[in-house]
Amino acid sequence: MDVVLQPSPALSWRSTGGILDVYVFLGPEPKSVVQQYLEVIGRPFMPPYWALGFHLCRWGYPSTAVTRQVVENMTRAHFPLDVQWNDLDYMDARRDFTFNKDGFGDFPAMVRELHQGGRRYVMIVDPAISSSGPAGSYRPYDEGLRRGVFITNETGQPLIGKVWPGPSAFPDFTNPEALDWWQDMVAEFHAQVPFDGMWIDMNEPSNFVKGSVDGCPDNDLESPPYVPGELRLRPGSGRGRGGSDQLSGLGDSKLLFLRSRWGVGGSLRAATICASSRQFLSTHYNLHNLYGLTEALASHRALVKVRGTRPFVISRSTFAGHGQYAGHWTGDVRSSWEQLSSSVPETLLFNLLGVPLVGADVCGFLGNTSEELCVRWTQLGAFYPFMRNHNDLHSLPQEPYRFSETAQQAMRKALGLRYALLPHLYTLFHGAHARGDTVARPLFLEFPEDPRTWPVDRQLLWGEALLITPVLEAGHVEVTGYFPAGTWYDLQTVPVEALGSLPPPPPAPLKPAIHSEGQWVTLPAPLDTINLHLRAGHIVPLQGPGLTTTEPASSPWRWPWP
Ligand code: GLC
Repeated sequence: MDVVLQPSPALSWRSTGGILDVYVFLGPEPKSVVQQYLEVIGRPFMPPYWALGFHLCRWGYPSTAVTRQVVENMTRAHFPLDVQWNDLDYMDARRDFTFNKDGFGDFPAMVRELHQGGRRYVMIVDPAISSSGPAGSYRPYDEGLRRGVFITNETGQPLIGKVWPGPSAFPDFTNPEALDWWQDMVAEFHAQVPFDGMWIDMNEPSNFVKGSVDGCPDNDLESPPYVPGELRLRPGSGRGRGGSDQLSGLGDSKLLFLRSRWGVGGSLRAATICASSRQFLSTHYNLHNLYGLTEALASHRALVKVRGTRPFVISRSTFAGHGQYAGHWTGDVRSSWEQLSSSVPETLLFNLLGVPLVGADVCGFLGNTSEELCVRWTQLGAFYPFMRNHNDLHSLPQEPYRFSETAQQAMRKALGLRYALLPHLYTLFHGAHARGDTVARPLFLEFPEDPRTWPVDRQLLWGEALLITPVLEAGHVEVTGYFPAGTWYDLQTVPVEALGSLPPPPPAPLKPAIHSEGQWVTLPAPLDTINLHLRAGHIVPLQGPGLTTTEPASSPWRWPWP
């Protein structure tokens, strides 16, 4: 099925069959529509406090020595860092639940040191399980085979695709036995490496070959009468078995990018597994879109059992209901101004969909960032509910300390604001968990009576009261934002560095407030500034700065407003 938004405005639904359940949520306010929707699909999980701190990652930290150095560089440069991550690099031959004994020989010790410093640790876990080693050489596969947890092909054998470790089988998370097997693998690895959360990637599920290493069988599920993406085919390019993925050449840039990297378009098996493969509950055809959701559920459940505390899971693939189990990052974004801008509506949309713990890779993932882009991205990222700087293997380094002192100062200021506001952010997450509120919120949700707020997708609110107006274009030192009717105070006047100090500093002189009648306002936005405004009549708790969330917990919270 695909759904196309028409300019009219209207939606076109195309489906080859199946049962369509349509729910209509009556609101009447947009906020109640979200609440009613979340009542049906499930409200978001409550993340641990540390999950709201700053996360740092890249593909290409080759060893514990380099990873430790990164953490030390952050501390030296006075950047907050709560959670250090590793990508595939930690694994032995890119296999899950292993670590390579060269670069990562003292992996468990590194994680314990991070804990001693008040920090947390998260590593990547891919769903596909390496299947090519000799029997008895890789427990997750041996044990998975024994317990029958893998998706099977037409002969009843595990379907074998290719992912990072090479030939791999795909766990079927709709099988209750697979949930227990996954939990056991998580527990056994956690007994060696006391990690704090899981980053679940490639769970569309993603596959480097079409369908499987043996292709796919010839049947109706593999070649239904219509598949998404076909409208983009050149006239007469013929659908054929296996599908043609020729695009018209005019498709949007993301689709073209996907096509060039993975050959996506016009074929159900492109970049994934055969539609007719078998899962415990049904065919993969029926379950494909639920793969990430079911893996998130399995991982959430495993972490609860293994760690006994509120879990932390971040996933690439999602489906309705995902927010109950995990958060989301928006995948492999390019380091470009265009993708910086599109991360605002993406963040807002996932909040409407019940996945408030969301953010894009700060400074961008694919390609090299620039200093200015990385500063602006760090400023906006400080207001993503989930803030992680993550980078591709092939891109130049982009940790905050890599840049000029001027840029670092600007990034420090943005991170200082985020850390000062964490008690407020945490409270907003509780509202999402308990009532189905949004954390990052589009303006129309708060001001539905003002039609000028409806299309605003370059600003966001945190809750009811904080309006964030980021710079999203190169070379700009002014920014124009919409201010709904009312009085708005500039929050930059809060001396974040002095928060929590005793005795408290004298109240800073407030800049003249914006008294808006519902209008667009142009504001100064030099490189060190992200505009942040507090709505009159609201109270926001702040806390003192610290390099981790464990540090300032002892420092007093403040309500700096008279
Ligand atoms: C995928 C992920 C990316 C990760 C890479 C290597 O492309 O989206 O975040 O760095 O795989 O694991």
